[in-house]
Amino acid sequence: MAELWQLLTEEDWDTPQVIVHRGKLLANIEAMAAFANRHGVRVRPHVKTHKTWEIFALQQAAGAVGLTCAKLGEADVFLQRGATSVLVAYPLVGSRKLERLFALLARFPEAEVQTIVDSPEQAAALAQAAVSRGLELPVWVKVDSGLRRVGVLPGAPAAKLVRVVQKLAGLRLLGLLTHAGHAYGAASPEQVAEIGAQEAACLVETAAMLADQGVAGLHISVGSTPTVRVSGAVPDVTEIRPGNYVFYDATQVQLGAATPDQCALRVLTRVVARPEPGRIVIDAGAKTLALDKGAHGSDALAGHGLIVGHADAVIERLSEEHGVVQIAADSPIRVGDLLEIIPNHACPVVNLTDELTVIGEDGTLETWPVIARGKVR
Ligand SMILES: Cc1ncc(COP(=O)(O)O)c(C=O)c1O
Repeated sequence: MAELWQLLTEEDWDTPQVIVHRGKLLANIEAMAAFANRHGVRVRPHVKTHKTWEIFALQQAAGAVGLTCAKLGEADVFLQRGATSVLVAYPLVGSRKLERLFALLARFPEAEVQTIVDSPEQAAALAQAAVSRGLELPVWVKVDSGLRRVGVLPGAPAAKLVRVVQKLAGLRLLGLLTHAGHAYGAASPEQVAEIGAQEAACLVETAAMLADQGVAGLHISVGSTPTVRVSGAVPDVTEIRPGNYVFYDATQVQLGAATPDQCALRVLTRVVARPEPGRIVIDAGAKTLALDKGAHGSDALAGHGLIVGHADAVIERLSEEHGVVQIAADSPIRVGDLLEIIPNHACPVVNLTDELTVIGEDGTLETWPVIARGKVR
């Protein structure tokens, strides 16, 4: 079958270009919504993957209760567009951050802005800032389910922090939250599933411990794209926060979380040179494809993306504007050809482009601006 971009003539395309197959995107969003409905969990997708209002609007239409982001700058642009419930799932530390958080709350008084806490000191600073403004901030206690990044350990340490937070005026405790990013380093789909089971179990057990101590009714929020179908199906989990699932990418394919066909985001690139029979150069380099060899710092992938329809080609190195690709000496690829690449990690690819070119099933094109691009603060 012709690739979608081939519905247009080759000359219509300027390259490199980040394209999204609308049909695949919708299928990914609908499949996650159906999963959530089946298991009675709310979806609060992480928008760092797409940073695009149009895609969040599709997620909302499919039932998302709000969004997750990492940065106040991301929260700001989505609130400006009308988001009503935003979770900044990152420890907000320092007076500048707290000023910006409360300035956002003042600008969008109708919206709910939630965040996370992972230590008594950080929680106390947030609480004090909220009290001094006569506000109450909804917060999750962030639990470390194995990533060893931020978060308090599950069980007694998490329960202790919950009780501290409960006593702090200015904070309203929502529940327990974790992100099993260590699943990206798993060696097999079975290990991904084990990590997903553990991700949910450690929160459910902590909540049960707290219920015994009289703290009931806590929400439980889990979710990374590889683990969510296991952790999100565990009874007592109430909310899931997958991000990458809207696009998927070569990392998810390698982990067994998606097939290449489900990957909705691709980079369209042109062959600009074939200096040797076995080597071509494409116009997508590190400034388009990003340098990840996996997510969360893993380097499980051999090349810098999968070239659709050329399984034997390896994108072996990137400089800023060039990709150097090994091909078979008798490959029919010629200078001027267009190639479609499934990148290793879709999220940083989006953060490197101003807009996404969205291709409908009938070849219609739309341009969606990446509104939260570069919002690193
Ligand atoms: C706190 C948090 N929640 C959810 C996600 C979404 O994970 P994924 O992109 O694997 O779906 C992330 C990703 O970094 C995260 O840090």
